[in-house]
Amino acid sequence: MQYKSCQWVNRGIEFRTDEIRLCCYGYLQGRETEYQTTLFTDYHGGKIDWDAFFKKKDELKQMHKEGKYLDACKDCIYLHERDWDEENYINHFTFNHWTKCNCNCTYCYTNGDKKAFNKYKEYKIYPIIKDMFKQGIIKKMGESCLCFGGGEPTILDGFDKLIDLFVSNGAKNIRINTSGIKYSKAIEKALKLGVMSIVISTDAGCEQTYEKVKQVKCYKKVWENIRKYNKAAVDKKLVKVKYILIPGFNDNYEEINKWFDEVVKNGVTAVSLSVEQDWYNTHQPDFTPEIYEQIAYMEKRSKELNLDLEIYCEALAVLRSK
Ligand SMILES: C[S@@+](CC[C@H](N)C(=O)[O-])C[C@H]1O[C@@H](n2cnc3c(N)ncnc32)[C@H](O)[C@@H]1O
Ligand code: SF4
Ligand code: SF4
Repeated sequence: MQYKSCQWVNRGIEFRTDEIRLCCYGYLQGRETEYQTTLFTDYHGGKIDWDAFFKKKDELKQMHKEGKYLDACKDCIYLHERDWDEENYINHFTFNHWTKCNCNCTYCYTNGDKKAFNKYKEYKIYPIIKDMFKQGIIKKMGESCLCFGGGEPTILDGFDKLIDLFVSNGAKNIRINTSGIKYSKAIEKALKLGVMSIVISTDAGCEQTYEKVKQVKCYKKVWENIRKYNKAAVDKKLVKVKYILIPGFNDNYEEINKWFDEVVKNGVTAVSLSVEQDWYNTHQPDFTPEIYEQIAYMEKRSKELNLDLEIYCEALAVLRSK
């Protein structure tokens, strides 16, 4: 049936540290209503009542058929009109159920209490996914989408095994944000097959700034791993290096130019540009001209260097504010 809906209401699941949600995009419509995308609270792994799960989804699908939407979904960029099938299955996944990381970015939500976030013991995801495949809940993997938040995925217990399970079952469009500190053979394999893209946020053009922002001494290691992933990838555009503009840390042209030099020197052909989330939230809609000009400069420089550029929605909002 033809109506306006989204992949996540129809086929999605987000595993969080203590909940199951439809997706991780409710916050884009406002922090006050994002809880509406929760399907089960107090979830800490183990069995899922799939009848109850799909009953909740059916109610939401019915709302969409009638042109009604939760406040958390109204005006969401992922809503689109198309012919949606009636069958109940899952092929869109977001993994956000762990918090430990091998890095310590000053801007990360884990920075306030790194010890607690690193100690937090996540539930085991592999048996849950294995059981979903066995029960036939996961289908149509040719149209699948997998996103990883976290925490650092590559240090997640059983990460390589989980990726291999998905890839061997035909997963496409696996998106990984990684610190790039630990090299993953499963990522390498998936890049070779062209079923994964990765984003590594280096945020600096030199060791000194990297260590100030990331608070670990891994600059050389990360670039070494970027080169290895880039070499393995069937298409170089699958490996993206990101720069988050962080006012007070790396918002100057010298750093930005050094970062572009590293990108080119290391054979990277795709980059991402973002602006630090807290700065964005506290400054919108009156962004400083300096940050606007730096984003505009990075857009221009990417074109000149023939780099594929992805601009995150916050940086895009700054660009569009003039
Ligand atoms: C929470 S991280 C987890 C994945 C992985 N450890 C990493 O950093 O790539 C997910 C993504 O959010 C970005 N991110 C985290 N905190 C941010 C912030 N305050 N502002 C903008 N982007 C942020 C990271 O760069 C990363 O691409
Ligand atoms: S409309 Fe947006 S917020 Fe709502 S479930 Fe779909 S992707 Fe998530
Ligand atoms: S690498 Fe990712 S999870 Fe780790 S501290 Fe940085 S932003 Fe947070």
